[in-house]
Amino acid sequence: METIGVFTSGGDAPGMNAALRAVVRTAIYHNKKVIGIRRGFEGMIDGDMNELTSHSVSNIIQRGGTVLKTARSKRFLTEEGMNTAFENLKKHGIDGLVALGGDGTFRGAFEFRMRHNISTVGVPCTIDNDLYGTDFTIGYDTAINTAMEAIDKIRDTADSHNRLFFVEVMGRDAGFIALRSGIGGGAEAILVPETETNISHLISILEKGWKRNKSSSIVVVAEGEEAGGAYDVARQVKEHFDFYDTRVSILGHMQRGGNPTCMDRVLASRLGVAAVEALLDGKENVMVGVIHRDIEYTPFEKATKHNLDINMNLLRIAEILST
Ligand code: F6P
Repeated sequence: METIGVFTSGGDAPGMNAALRAVVRTAIYHNKKVIGIRRGFEGMIDGDMNELTSHSVSNIIQRGGTVLKTARSKRFLTEEGMNTAFENLKKHGIDGLVALGGDGTFRGAFEFRMRHNISTVGVPCTIDNDLYGTDFTIGYDTAINTAMEAIDKIRDTADSHNRLFFVEVMGRDAGFIALRSGIGGGAEAILVPETETNISHLISILEKGWKRNKSSSIVVVAEGEEAGGAYDVARQVKEHFDFYDTRVSILGHMQRGGNPTCMDRVLASRLGVAAVEALLDGKENVMVGVIHRDIEYTPFEKATKHNLDINMNLLRIAEILST
């Protein structure tokens, strides 16, 4: 393998740039050429790519977003899109790919390999932490810190007004962001898609707080929570419990931005190096991850299809500590 293509795809995640830097510099260290493909699979189809040098990735380790830009490509899901992408890769002499993204990216890479002879190794980059085969994904640590800081700020105003807040955090259909930011922010309750929401139980928790003269309450709601988003849950609670003045706050895309934390930068650096070395070792269709401190390789089908279980003990801790 002489030329490696690298791209970022799907939702951006803080730490993607740090991972890109690691991929580029590791490839160069091993005397390989690196081509940066812009806008993920979209750029592959449009031939939007050029060579990267060590200098191209200077001064990006600390920046959020992705300097290569990203996209969620519909065209790549078609036969025609994949054929054009493959022709463009061959034109640039690319014989291996490093994909920085989440499950949509790895599903795309898997389908691509079924049709064309090109190896891909994936680096898990998503704030959602919803991939099997790594303890943490790149971007998750930054996102939970951003969400927690937002919760802290909301607590200040909630407390001043004696209000009940429902704070909705991201995570698509996973509750990882809600769980950790909720515990870190001292939330009175945390609602996640992985468990059934019991509105009466939630009300009883809030009532207990009210009786103890709690001056504020915060319920963290994961966006994929099955009783509905924060607005729906707030409405259902208010029907039976309206002691507090209630507000809803949707944190939204602010959770995807910002400078990556040190944890994310280090994880991205480790996984970027591991991905290039895996590719050079002849591995393909695998995602690199860190499990219990060691680098592990998980086939794309497993990384994307096996649901990572939420830590039920953390949920229990959250409930104990909110009483
Ligand atoms: O996968 C990351 C994520 O931020 C999810 O938490 C969220 O559901 C989704 O992306 C939002 O995607 P978009 O930016 O395309 O609206």
